[in-house]
Amino acid sequence: MSTQQSDKDRVFIFDTTLRDGEQSPGATMTHEEKLEVAELLDEMGVDIIEAGFPIASPGDFEAVHEIAKRTKRAVVCGLSRAGQADIDRAAEAIKPAKRGRIHTFISTSPVHMKWKLQLEPEKVFELVVASVTRARNYTDDVEWSPEDGTRTEHDFLCRCVEAAINAGATTINIPDTVGYTVPEEYYALFKMVRERVPNSDKARFSVHCHDDLGMAVANSLAGIRAGARQIECAVNGIGERAGNASLEEVVMAMKVRNDALPFHTGVDTAMLMRVSKLVSAVTSFPVQYNKAIVGRNAFAHESGIHQDGMLKHTQTYEIMQPEDVGVKETSLVMGKHSGRHAFVHKLEELGYKLSGNQLEDAFARFKALADRKKHVYDEDIEALVDEEIATAQDRIKLVSLSVMAGTRGPQRATMRLDIEGRLVVEEAEGNGPVDATFNAIKALVPHEVVLELYQVHAVTEGTDAQAEVSVRLSENGKTVTAKGADPDTLVASAKAYLGALNRLMVKRLRTKPQPMTAGAEAEDIRRAERGP
Ligand code: KIV
Ligand code: ZN
Repeated sequence: MSTQQSDKDRVFIFDTTLRDGEQSPGATMTHEEKLEVAELLDEMGVDIIEAGFPIASPGDFEAVHEIAKRTKRAVVCGLSRAGQADIDRAAEAIKPAKRGRIHTFISTSPVHMKWKLQLEPEKVFELVVASVTRARNYTDDVEWSPEDGTRTEHDFLCRCVEAAINAGATTINIPDTVGYTVPEEYYALFKMVRERVPNSDKARFSVHCHDDLGMAVANSLAGIRAGARQIECAVNGIGERAGNASLEEVVMAMKVRNDALPFHTGVDTAMLMRVSKLVSAVTSFPVQYNKAIVGRNAFAHESGIHQDGMLKHTQTYEIMQPEDVGVKETSLVMGKHSGRHAFVHKLEELGYKLSGNQLEDAFARFKALADRKKHVYDEDIEALVDEEIATAQDRIKLVSLSVMAGTRGPQRATMRLDIEGRLVVEEAEGNGPVDATFNAIKALVPHEVVLELYQVHAVTEGTDAQAEVSVRLSENGKTVTAKGADPDTLVASAKAYLGALNRLMVKRLRTKPQPMTAGAEAEDIRRAERGP
């Protein structure tokens, strides 16, 4: 930290990739993947890791509990509704943490209180006090959020905030739950609450913005300008619906435009790319090519005029150095003669750190690819490693696939799978080679799912390019996404479909808490109040 940076300008980064981010349709992570992401977030200098919603499922509880045990620096936070059972479960989950936080919330907007909670405002007010008081019995780090805060009546909002602080809340988060606000309005909201609530100086204020209108980052920064000092955000901007404010964007905005946004964080920005890649790989959510900070094109210059300018002086078209966010100038060209050392070096350049079996497997796959493909580009290696990371825990693995295709149908696929160590084989027909491939999977692993998306794109150029296939499956309202890459489009398709099935199995193991819709949350709260 430089000497000019003062504590009052320090903005705390509250990462919710593992909670709000993981809640987004299709972004399921396994237990091990969550631990891996949390470890990297901690190393990167995130201040608070919201590791999950412990009452949501045994899996969520276990993840928060294990992350609480392992995290070295960051505060580990568990989310809870206002019911006693929720708070007790969150408290149990964060117990092993060096520094643990309970984040409790309840809806305060007229529309949420009337339709979702079906509770009168006075009852909600009582629950605010009761929930924060209960949470404070477990930890002195309690955060309270009025859900749908930006659509809450100001008088009621101020009353609840004051009561929550009196009951012991140390952080007050005012979420823009539905991504509805605009920067000026969000700025004014924080100003108003901080001025009107008499004990507002006893708590740190926090922003939590959703991106439904594409303003999550701008809104978050407006809240910071109005005095909030915590940003709730997620890597690659993942989260409910259109997502949360993107962590890398808020952090880099304050770093690059420190003249206009004179705030600082504890994040090591050189790790941003690595974390982005890990989150993309474990969720199988691709990062949009032109995404700010971490998109593949964020530092690419293709037009002649731009390239000419860049060669004369990089500042002509670059407002930040690629190294600042962990993008390194690539130097090594990889091919079949490249050894393990060069491969590890290349992985580091690309922002990956693999070890043990994962590294061995990735290296073996790289060698196999280099044998089939003349030039192995960075994008090929990224696709290969992403797949390695995403499939490490898979129970069903592709062993081999051969397909008969051509003008004379029906097309036929013969597939061998390893299902938890058991080798099985099947032949199936289909209306086209992809259909035959998927039918073979269905015969080997009988299931009823809806194929919502099947998408193919080439990882690099040329006819020997790897194909990257994305598949989205849904079953009873649960959605999962997975990617597969291979020079053979059909093999890539099979890998992607199997990846999605593996993720669905993880998701099936999760039991949900009472859904937080139409009275169920209120019922949960009532039941919790009556006791077990
Ligand atoms: O968007 C939201 O309101 C939330 C709360 C739980 C803070 O995610
Ligand atoms: Zn949210």
